[in-house]
Amino acid sequence: MPQDATGRNLCRMSKLDAKAPTLAAQAMGWVDPLTKAVVPPIHPATTFIRDPDNQYRAGHSYARAENPTYDHAQKLLAALEGGAGCLTFASGMAAATTVFQILKPGDHVVAPNVMYWGLRRWLTTFGRERGLQVDLVDASDLDAIAAALRPGATKMVWIETPANPTWPITDIAGAAELAHGAGARLAVDSTVATPVLTRPLALGADLVMHSATKYLNGHSDVVAGALVTAQSDDFWHKVATLRHNGGAILGSFEAWLLLRGLRTLYLRVERACRTAEHLAARLTAHPAIAAVLYPGLPEHPGHAVAARQMQGGFGGMLSIRVQGGEQAAIATAAKVRIWKRATSLGGVESLIEHRASVEGPGTPAPPDLLRLSVGIEDPDDLLDDLDQALGP
Ligand SMILES: Cc1ncc(COP(=O)(O)O)c(C=O)c1O
Repeated sequence: MPQDATGRNLCRMSKLDAKAPTLAAQAMGWVDPLTKAVVPPIHPATTFIRDPDNQYRAGHSYARAENPTYDHAQKLLAALEGGAGCLTFASGMAAATTVFQILKPGDHVVAPNVMYWGLRRWLTTFGRERGLQVDLVDASDLDAIAAALRPGATKMVWIETPANPTWPITDIAGAAELAHGAGARLAVDSTVATPVLTRPLALGADLVMHSATKYLNGHSDVVAGALVTAQSDDFWHKVATLRHNGGAILGSFEAWLLLRGLRTLYLRVERACRTAEHLAARLTAHPAIAAVLYPGLPEHPGHAVAARQMQGGFGGMLSIRVQGGEQAAIATAAKVRIWKRATSLGGVESLIEHRASVEGPGTPAPPDLLRLSVGIEDPDDLLDDLDQALGP
C-alpha cells in the first residue's frame, strides 16, 4: 500500500473493499491526505530524505529502486491481476527480457512459434547467445508443449494468449500444470487479453507480463512494461534486484500517464471487444476477405478454450486475410481513411497494418494478413472504412 511521509496509507480503499473496475477507475480509491485531491500527483524526485535515525521509513531512498509514482501504478496492476506484487519497466521488452536474464546458461525455455515477433527474435538471438536452450512450439497444442518439456532442465514456459498475429489460444491452466509438472515456471504475455478478460495467475500461471504500451495505458503515448507475480519468492526478488541494478525502470511521467490510462481500462477494453465482435461477424461474409482470424468466432480453433478462460469478451484484436494476396492486402491498408496505418495495438484509435512487412523473413504471418487493432470509435465508421478500402 503506498504511504505518505508519515507512513499513513495513501490508498483509502483496500483490495477487499471493491471490485477491479472500481479500483481501476479510482486509482485504488486514492485521495490526497493533505489537499483531498482525487488525482494522484507525479513525483519526479530522484532522491528522498533519510530519517534522523538513519532509516528510510517512508520506503523511498532513490528513484531507480522505488518511486511513489510507479509504486502506485504497480499496486493497482497487482490488484487487477490478483498478484502478490508488480514491477513496472521501461517497456514490455524490458519486462520480458528481465525474466529471461534471471535464467542461467544451459536453462531450457519453451516458447510459442507464434508470439510477439520482437521477443521471439530476442530469444532466438540474444537468448541463445547467452546459452539459453530455446524451443519454439505450437503453444495452442498442449501435447506439443508436453513433448518439448525437459523435466529438471526446463525452467520457463512462456506463452502469449491470444497471440500475435493470428490469435491462437493457449490453455493457461493446462500449460501451468504441464510446466509445474516439469519443475518450470509459466509466464503469460497477457498484453492482448488484459486483466479485464483473463487473470492468468488465477489459472495457475506464475508470472504475467504486459506491454503496458498497449491496452493498459491505452492512448498510444507511453512505452511501458509490467510483470506481476503470483508469489513473492526468490525468483521475484531476483527480478526486482535486476530491475533495480540494471535500471530498466519506468519514468515518473510515464508512470503517471499509465495510472491515468488504467482508470479507463475496463471501459476501453469492453468497447473494443464489442466492436471487434461486430467487425468479425460482418467481415466474415465480405467477398474481398478470404478469412477472419478472431478467437470470438465459433470456427476459430481456439474458440472453446478462449470462451472458458476469457471473461466478458475475446479482445479487440483480429486479423483479416485479403483475397488477392500480399499486394491486395498492402493496397487495402493504403486506402483506409479512418483506420490509422501504423504498428502497435491497444490504443483508443484503430490501427491497421500489413504484419508480414513488419516482421520480415521467417514470420508466421501469412503475406495476405492485415492486423486490426480495434479502438473505441463508432463501429459503423470502422466497418464502412474497411468496406471502401477493400473495394475495387
Ligand atoms: C504482445 C506483445 N508483447 C510484448 C510487446 C513488447 O512491448 P513493448 O513494445 O512495450 O516493448 C509487444 C509490442 O508490440 C506486444 O504486442
